[in-house]
Amino acid sequence: MTGKLAITGISQLVTLRGPARPRTGDEMGNLAIIDNGAMIIEGKRITCAGTRHEIEPLINANCKVIDAGGRVVMPGFIDAHTHPVFAGNRANEFEMRASGATYQQISAAGGGIQSTVKLTRAATEDELFETSKHYLEWFLRSGTTTIEAKSGYGLTVEDELKMLRVVRRLNNEGPIRLVPTFLGAHSIPEEFKDHRADYVNLIVNEMLPKVADEGLAEYCDVFCEEGAFSIDETRRIMLAAKERGLKLRLHADQLTLNGGAALAAELGAVTADHLEQADLKGIERLKAAGVQPILLPASVLMIGSTKYPDARAMIDSGLAVVLATDFNPGSSPVPSMPLVLTLASTMMKMTPAEAITAATINAAYSLDRGAEIGSLEPGKVADFVIYDCSDYREIAYFAGVEHVMKVFISGMIQSSGGIQEGGKNIFSLKIS
Ligand code: NIG
Ligand code: FE
Repeated sequence: MTGKLAITGISQLVTLRGPARPRTGDEMGNLAIIDNGAMIIEGKRITCAGTRHEIEPLINANCKVIDAGGRVVMPGFIDAHTHPVFAGNRANEFEMRASGATYQQISAAGGGIQSTVKLTRAATEDELFETSKHYLEWFLRSGTTTIEAKSGYGLTVEDELKMLRVVRRLNNEGPIRLVPTFLGAHSIPEEFKDHRADYVNLIVNEMLPKVADEGLAEYCDVFCEEGAFSIDETRRIMLAAKERGLKLRLHADQLTLNGGAALAAELGAVTADHLEQADLKGIERLKAAGVQPILLPASVLMIGSTKYPDARAMIDSGLAVVLATDFNPGSSPVPSMPLVLTLASTMMKMTPAEAITAATINAAYSLDRGAEIGSLEPGKVADFVIYDCSDYREIAYFAGVEHVMKVFISGMIQSSGGIQEGGKNIFSLKIS
């Protein structure tokens, strides 16, 4: 849309207006909601947001008007931790876990990440592009407008570059925005099993320089875990990435408590992700270093664990908590941020408002996009969603329901979430 667009008739305009920084403590519970709201968009940016009384007099004849009919409008979700580029899937492992096998047992027996690596290596860039595009549709339909996207199923120089080129193509093609992360250190590939130091050398000496030279990633991540990369290996890779100008994210303290959180703090990582096993000492270290925790409750659910990260302790200590899906074919085949919000409230005792803050403005800052997206304020890019409910809490409360009605990215309608445009349906919006 190049002209002017007005959205009115909004029961709750969830703006998340506030200080230009991630939100902590009590701030996380304040969504800065405008009841009976309206908003004007010019080109790709929001120009005004306020009550209908304030905004409607500003609407003129050359403005397209959408009446939301008493529904909720919120910023699009920003999913700050995903692995969306892969070939095949692991529904077989889902079935094995249902029959009693654990995620770690399946990995140790040659399934897990290694099985996705085999298929991803065999796939062409075009094939991966098409399958990932399909997954991005799912994100969009559940109200997500930006995702962070990791490599990590190639594990050779060429296959890692191939994955990151797919991420770049997806971002160029749109509409979803993608922020690329290099995760060559996701797993030690089969062929390096008996000389793992050589794989770390390959990452440091060949992969990282190429990724940086081609400008294929903004962040570097490492799976720091027993059976994946040790603390010392992780430190070496992260320091080399930093030298190449990449910012750092880290899979930390997911399955075992091995000091990942403390390492993220030591290295000045932007985020420490997972943290299911992190203890209070680790949490204090993150706070002291200003690292944002990214919590991934869908991966806890899907591996059948009950150990969720201690979100309350993190919020109480003043950390700017983020929520994300961890979408991947193994531990979290879940692209739905609404499901993540439900789990955040039921299993981690975050209020619906805290969870939304974690999934929007705090997530935007964790990706260095806080000045552009994550809240609905004048000057920001118009990435927002109209939900078919009148109270924002219903999005997580009526769980498993498609609440998304329309998704806008850069002020343009991208998706009508299952509801047919022009068809006979009771939800159709008045557009004039
Ligand atoms: O974030 N933890 C490491 N990596 C993914 C799992 C990837 C997979 O199982 O394919 C995760 O949970
Ligand atoms: Fe992950």
